[in-house]
Amino acid sequence: MSEKVEVMDTPKETTPAKSGGVAGHFKKWWWVYLAVLIVVVLVVVLPVVYVAYPKIAQKDINKSSLEVTSMVISKPTADSFYLNQTQTIINHASYHPKLYAFEAAVSMLGLTSTVAKVLVPTSHANNGAEIHIEQTVNITDATQFDYFAAYLLGTEEFPLNIYGKPHLKEGSLPKISVTYNKTVVMKGLNQLEGFEVTGFNILTTEEDGKNMNGTLLIPNPSVVTLSMGNVTLNLGVEGTALGYIYVEDLVLAPGNNSVPMTATVNETSIIEMLSSNSSSLSDGVVPFTITGNSSVYDGVVLPYFTAALQALNLTASLNVTEALVEAGL
Ligand SMILES: *[C@@H]1O[C@H](CO)[C@@H](O)[C@H](O)[C@H]1NC(C)=O
Ligand SMILES: *[C@@H]1O[C@H](CO)[C@@H](O)[C@H](O)[C@H]1NC(C)=O
Ligand SMILES: *[C@@H]1O[C@H](CO)[C@@H](O)[C@H](O)[C@H]1NC(C)=O
Ligand SMILES: *[C@@H]1O[C@H](CO)[C@@H](O)[C@H](O)[C@H]1NC(C)=O
Ligand SMILES: *[C@@H]1O[C@H](CO)[C@@H](O)[C@H](O)[C@H]1NC(C)=O
Ligand SMILES: *[C@@H]1O[C@H](CO)[C@@H](O)[C@H](O)[C@H]1NC(C)=O
Ligand SMILES: *[C@@H]1O[C@H](CO)[C@@H](O)[C@H](O)[C@H]1NC(C)=O
Ligand SMILES: *[C@@H]1O[C@H](CO)[C@@H](O)[C@H](O)[C@H]1NC(C)=O
Ligand SMILES: *[C@@H]1O[C@H](CO)[C@@H](O)[C@H](O)[C@H]1NC(C)=O
Ligand SMILES: *[C@@H]1O[C@H](CO)[C@@H](O)[C@H](O)[C@H]1NC(C)=O
Ligand SMILES: *[C@@H]1O[C@H](CO)[C@@H](O)[C@H](O)[C@H]1NC(C)=O
Ligand SMILES: *[C@@H]1O[C@H](CO)[C@@H](O)[C@H](O)[C@H]1NC(C)=O
Repeated sequence: MSEKVEVMDTPKETTPAKSGGVAGHFKKWWWVYLAVLIVVVLVVVLPVVYVAYPKIAQKDINKSSLEVTSMVISKPTADSFYLNQTQTIINHASYHPKLYAFEAAVSMLGLTSTVAKVLVPTSHANNGAEIHIEQTVNITDATQFDYFAAYLLGTEEFPLNIYGKPHLKEGSLPKISVTYNKTVVMKGLNQLEGFEVTGFNILTTEEDGKNMNGTLLIPNPSVVTLSMGNVTLNLGVEGTALGYIYVEDLVLAPGNNSVPMTATVNETSIIEMLSSNSSSLSDGVVPFTITGNSSVYDGVVLPYFTAALQALNLTASLNVTEALVEAGL
């Protein structure tokens, strides 16, 4: 029974505390409230910080897009080149997080192997923000780079995929990792559509075996500037090889490129054609076919540009009679 007494006694002792009311209650149980508060804060904040924020950030990254405004490919070797590229971020979201530098894998869309790996510098994902990339890029997969060159020279436009896992930071929120997977549509040189021989002369005195010179018009509707080195093209007529066109240090910048050329043409053969086959070449106009032969930079054959050039079929109808008359032959 003594136990019962004790139980009855306990509330009596606490009565003075109760008279202190709510304050007393908190004084005794403050740690419970603190614990509950911490749990509530964690339950509310943690998911926001570690679930909602990464989701929102990823969603915004997904929504943003990229536009390559300029790409300069220079100093090409068989397995590397110098890249100077400017791209613009298009981001209409209200968050403009900091995107840390990351290694991006560039690939032709739909192909898993990468064309090249490029280090993208730290940027702020503001709308219209420009990212400059300037570095020597190693061609890690020659086959993929062949595809890139073929698409660049041969198509009107082609998709290029950029993939990476950059870290991102928004204000004072923690640094998180997001997936960057963007496809940009690049304009290509469209098989050099609009190619023209805008002028040519027959040289009466040969230099290095070159007996023709002139000017080529090569349109480049893309944003890419390409250094292709010393380019050789094959000249033919109706399947008969007639010689070569040479362009030294060919650099194709965006827009119309007017470049000087020299050529070695089998004049004997052409004159024979002009005189013997009066049916097709009677007006003195020779329908030349031109295909790529090679691209050589600093004595090194560039396999990717060489292959892309060889896939081209160009034509140029030239009034050879007129040129012969002008040359006084
Ligand atoms: C972002 O896009 C990828 C596909 O590229 C998709 O798998 C992912 O669910 C998207 N994430 C969000 C948060 O929209
Ligand atoms: C790269 O391009 C930018 C602008 O497009 C230019 O200012 C810079 O000089 C270029 N760098 C090289 C090494 O050509
Ligand atoms: C490219 O390759 C060269 C030698 O093969 C190497 O020294 C260089 O670090 C590589 N560059 C990159 C960006 O991987
Ligand atoms: C990137 O997105 C494209 C479709 O937009 C998809 O085909 C490709 O598999 C994705 N890349 C990776 C590495 O997940
Ligand atoms: C062609 O060669 C002649 C004689 O060397 C020169 O006068 C002329 O300017 C050259 N034309 C072109 C387009 O290079
Ligand atoms: C390029 O030249 C062609 C033919 O001369 C012309 O029609 C075209 O407008 C020119 N393009 C540019 C960008 O100058
Ligand atoms: C030029 O063509 C004629 C026949 O058309 C041929 O006999 C001659 O060998 C050719 N010359 C050269 C240098 O290829
Ligand atoms: C002349 O034309 C005929 C067909 O019309 C063709 O078979 C022949 O190869 C041509 N000759 C030359 C030298 O081009
Ligand atoms: C390229 O030109 C060389 C002569 O300079 C010739 O022997 C070779 O067959 C040509 N290659 C192609 C693919 O046309
Ligand atoms: C192109 O050929 C010329 C003459 O052979 C040479 O001086 C020049 O260095 C070559 N250019 C390149 C980019 O290889
Ligand atoms: C170029 O012509 C050759 C032979 O006529 C053909 O096999 C090839 O497919 C053509 N290439 C293009 C890009 O049209
Ligand atoms: C080619 O030039 C010759 C001589 O100048 C001229 O008689 C002929 O009409 C020209 N042909 C064409 C299609 O312009």
